[in-house]
This record gives sequence, structure tokens and C-alpha cells, in this order.
Amino acid sequence: MSHLSLGLAGLGVVGAKTAELLMSQADIWQQKTGKKLTLTAVSARDRTKDRGIDLSGVDFEEDPVALAHRGDIDVVIELIGGSEGPARALVEAALASGKHVVTANKALIAHHGQELAKLAEQHGVQLFFEAAVAGGIPALKVLREGLAANHISRVTGILNGTCNYILTEMTQTGRDFGDVLAEAQAKGFAEADPSFDVDGVDAAHKLAILAALAYGEQIDFSSVNISGIRSITGTDIAYAGELGYVIKLLGIAERSGIRSVQPCLIAHNDQLAKIDGALNAVAFEAEPVQTVLTTGPGAGAGQTSSAVLADVLDIATGRGGLPFGRFVDTLGPSAHVPHDPEERRYYLRAMVPDRAGILSAITSILKDKDISVESMLQRGQSEDAPVALVMTLHPARADAVLAACDVLTASDFINGSVLALPILDRIERH
Ligand SMILES: NC(=O)c1ccc[n+]([C@@H]2O[C@H](COP(=O)([O-])OP(=O)(O)OC[C@H]3O[C@@H](n4cnc5c(N)ncnc54)[C@H](OP(=O)(O)O)[C@@H]3O)[C@@H](O)[C@H]2O)c1
Repeated sequence: MSHLSLGLAGLGVVGAKTAELLMSQADIWQQKTGKKLTLTAVSARDRTKDRGIDLSGVDFEEDPVALAHRGDIDVVIELIGGSEGPARALVEAALASGKHVVTANKALIAHHGQELAKLAEQHGVQLFFEAAVAGGIPALKVLREGLAANHISRVTGILNGTCNYILTEMTQTGRDFGDVLAEAQAKGFAEADPSFDVDGVDAAHKLAILAALAYGEQIDFSSVNISGIRSITGTDIAYAGELGYVIKLLGIAERSGIRSVQPCLIAHNDQLAKIDGALNAVAFEAEPVQTVLTTGPGAGAGQTSSAVLADVLDIATGRGGLPFGRFVDTLGPSAHVPHDPEERRYYLRAMVPDRAGILSAITSILKDKDISVESMLQRGQSEDAPVALVMTLHPARADAVLAACDVLTASDFINGSVLALPILDRIERH
């Protein structure tokens, strides 16, 4: 009977669950693949830590890169994380040693995916990273396999569960960002250092990978315009709601070159507006299939292991494929544009003192950039504290709106930064 020997580096949230499922369901993997899958060796920092699984029959390597050099391992599963350091060294060494690699590491793929895919091609092995994008949702399989015959025009994703959880809580309870973040950290939904999540970097890693697969282009993480959710206040959520919208952190990659991760207003009855809590979603607009929406859990031990194991089973059954759906040398340059070239409506919020003349000063700055105001909301009065002035703008280009925001933010009659968010009235229709 044929046999597949696995080496697993990283026994944290995802690694420990993956090891447990590999060992406890060995019979099922054998029925599905015709191969006996054996976890031969593992690596982590601390050999003695109790991980709730019995690893007594499994070798332990102090140095994860040693897994790449063992002659008795066929597949290396990298679940350490990080774009550099041991994760990168292990994956490079494993591919160069002719071993297949499965990883959940979005940072590594977003920064080095192309070189790694090339290395895999050169050595005739597989490199799979389904778990790197949207956790438990098989979004890359949908794109690479199910939609292989389609011409993709836009990918829109809710790609970070922590941000979606925070924005959903803010929407449903009226609480502010800091308050909800602190609670999410206490409950273990958000990292102690939440910056990768709330500043949009994690979602941008995933978006860069999706764009490369969707458009057959080289991964260019630096091309993604990123803004996170720290500046969103309970007031913004409330005003957006009054206008008929919800605020979501969306990753958008269009064939025309838009690569952005930013909070956006979307109509409350849009399908993506209903993706709440820690759920993720990825919508593909494609020809001839039209719109395909995938949704599910974007993180978690079992959810992420589900995607890791699917990749392992593909390797075991010989269901191969190229990591980016085509040979690396045929990937074109990233088609990104610096700013969204389309004219869109915008939501604008400024904190201003409650006194005469402010409104005309703001509209005059907007007019200088050819931007006109569609509607205005201001509630509450205070002689001491600034109040929120909210406007919606008639369709304008992103570069003009950003330039106007810079001038407004620098002016002496505005407190703090001016927030501008695109209003996406139709995001899923072809
Ligand atoms: N958590 C999720 O829900 C999720 C979802 C999607 C993708 N991912 C990705 O999955 C990967 C793993 O995430 P995670 O949440 O499981 O991380 P984690 O809980 O922090 O676990 C990381 C593991 O790597 C080990 N490690 C760190 N440095 C090492 C080194 N130098 N040598 C050997 N082992 C080392 C740690 O060992 P010790 O345990 O001994 O410290 C730990 O077991 C990351 O790429 C992440 O982006 C995670």
C-alpha cells in the first residue's frame, strides 16, 4: 500500500488541530486517497508544551528546516507564520529538496509567492496555500478550479474576521471601536497586537494573492492601497445606517487595476452587508458565470485546518495544479493603478466647532477640487466640543477627494483628520 509521510512545523492554533485531525482520522484519509498518511515529525519552539495531543510516536525537530532535509518526509506543512525567518527558510528548503509544501501563511505568499511557485515548478513539486486566504472558505479552489474557464472582472472580499467582528459589534450595539476591540482581545478574537488586522495588512496580503490568481499577474503586495478601521467611530456607523448603508472593510481587486483594502459604505440590503461577525466572504464577478459569492469562517483552528488538510489530500491523490493557476513565467506585471479611476459617491465626516461659516469654508475647499455636496447631516450642538459634520458627495474621483481631505485636515477649523469613505451602491452585480 502506498504511503505519504508528513512533516509539520508549527503546533499553535492551526498546527495542533491539523496534527490532531491527521492522526485521529487516519482511516478516513486512507479511504479518500488510497494512501496511508503518517505524521512523521513535527517542529515547534517549545518541545515540552502540552498541546492536548499525543505526539509520543512522532519525531520532534528543534530546527524546523531539518524537516526539509529528512529523507523520510514527502510533504512539509508550514504553520509557523511570518513572511521571513524560519517559515520562509523551511518552505524554500523543502521545495528545493523536492518536497511538496502546504502552508497557511498569507504573509509569506503575499511577499514571496512567485519565487516559491517558481521553485516548486523547477523541482516538480506542489505548493498549496488554500488556508492563507479566507481560512475555511475554499476561495482559491473556486478561483483556480471552479472558475478556471471564466474571465474575472472583480473580486470583492470581507477578508478579515477580526475587523468584520468589530464593525458588526459597533453596528449592532452602538459601541465605539476601542471598546469593542478591547472586548474582542479579552475574548481571544483579536490579537494582543491587533495592528495587522485592524490596519488592513492581513486583508491586503489575502487580496494580493487573490488578484494574482484572478488576473494571472505577479503578486505585488506593495500595489494594494491599504486603510484600516481604526478611524471608524460609532458616529460614522450610526450616520451610515441612517443613510441606508453599513460600513465593511472590503478588499477590492478589479481587472482595471484597483487594488484596495478600505472601509466602504455598502447598501444594507446587499448580500455582503449581511456577512456579520467573524465570517469572511469573497464575491467573484466573472464571465460567463456572472457573480459567485462564497462565505464561511475565515479563521479558527478547525476551520483553517480544514483548508490545510484539503491541500494535503489533493497532494495525496495527485490532484495537482499550479499554485497560481498558470506557469510563473506567464504571469504578467501587476496592472494596479494608484487610485480608483472611477467617479464614486463618498461619505465625508469632519469634526468641527459648532459655529457659523464653517460649512461654507468646507464646501468652498471641496469646490476647488470640483467636488459637490449631495447631502449633509449634523446633529447635536456643543459650544465646547467639536461636533460631527457628515456629508455625502456627488460622484468624484478618489484622488480629488483625498486631496480635498488633506486640505480640510490641515485647516485650522477642523479637529483631527477628515474621513472619506467610498459609497458602493452596486458591488456584486455584474
Ligand atoms: N489562527 C488562525 O485562525 C489562522 C487562520 C488562517 C491562517 N493562519 C495562518 O496559519 C499560520 C499559523 O497560525 P497560528 O495561529 O496557528 O499561529 P500560532 O498559534 O502563533 O502558532 C505558531 C507556531 O509556530 C511555532 N514556531 C514559532 N517560531 C518557531 C520556530 N522558530 N521554530 C519552530 N516553530 C516555531 C510556535 O511554537 P510554540 O508553540 O512552541 O511557541 C507555534 O507552535 C500563520 O501563517 C497564520 O497566518 C492562521
